[in-house]
Amino acid sequence: MDRMDLERIIRQEIINSLFQTQEFLVVGNWKMNKTKQEVIEFLNKISGYDFGQKNTVVVAPPNPYLYLFEEKLRYTKVLYGVQNFYPEEKGAFTGEISLAMARDFGCKYAIVGHSERRTIFMECDEFTSRKVEFCIKNSIKPILCIGENLKQRKEEDYKQFLVNQIKEGLSLIGENELSNIIIAYEPIWAIGTGETATPEQVEETHMFIRKFLIDHFGSEIGKEIPLLYGGSVKPSNVKELALAESVSGFLIGGASLNAQSFIEINDILNGK
Ligand code: 13P
Repeated sequence: MDRMDLERIIRQEIINSLFQTQEFLVVGNWKMNKTKQEVIEFLNKISGYDFGQKNTVVVAPPNPYLYLFEEKLRYTKVLYGVQNFYPEEKGAFTGEISLAMARDFGCKYAIVGHSERRTIFMECDEFTSRKVEFCIKNSIKPILCIGENLKQRKEEDYKQFLVNQIKEGLSLIGENELSNIIIAYEPIWAIGTGETATPEQVEETHMFIRKFLIDHFGSEIGKEIPLLYGGSVKPSNVKELALAESVSGFLIGGASLNAQSFIEINDILNGK
């Protein structure tokens, strides 16, 4: 074994022991994927798996499968949530589901303001803020997604764009409710493209967002709001991304669809 090998092994050991204590929030966003049979197979694989105690593990499946999650995950530590809902109690909103329905099936989280909702379904900041507010009223934790596109990234003012998305997204909730909020930074150019932001890019943006949260909401709460990264996260890059400062966890699309890679990511974040 040469010196480089030895250094690599020592570095891995240090990282593993760091990850054995650091708490992460790991969220899988399945988007519009999977058949009933595939969901059952996935749940059978993860329901008996030991995800450890320190991390929070969440999956957001398509709504028709929530009953399977309720059935199969009831006695496990894996939590689940919805990818979308309509911010009203009930009524004439054809095609939508309410948070009361999500709660009925045991959901604890909701993804809000995902770039796919913003770009494909034209959901604006104002509507996103109503959804965040509605989550809080219904005791569901909103995962507020923010992120710039490639053009904005190149135009340098993307950081101001991200700050505006946060300000608008949180505009209807009070300061004492901020402890229930999660923010996910998902650069649009890295979603489903295989092109991950580098750990340096993630760290720079996360530290900028963290500073904004502290300056804007005060250091006590600003330091605590979980800040996730999302965009082509997979077993092969999650370790380096998790080392980036101010990363509290991940919002994972493609790699959360496969039970094995979802477990592998969780193992890495447990220092296994
Ligand atoms: P991918 O991990 O497939 O890039 O998706 C990221 C995402 O949009 C999660 O919400």
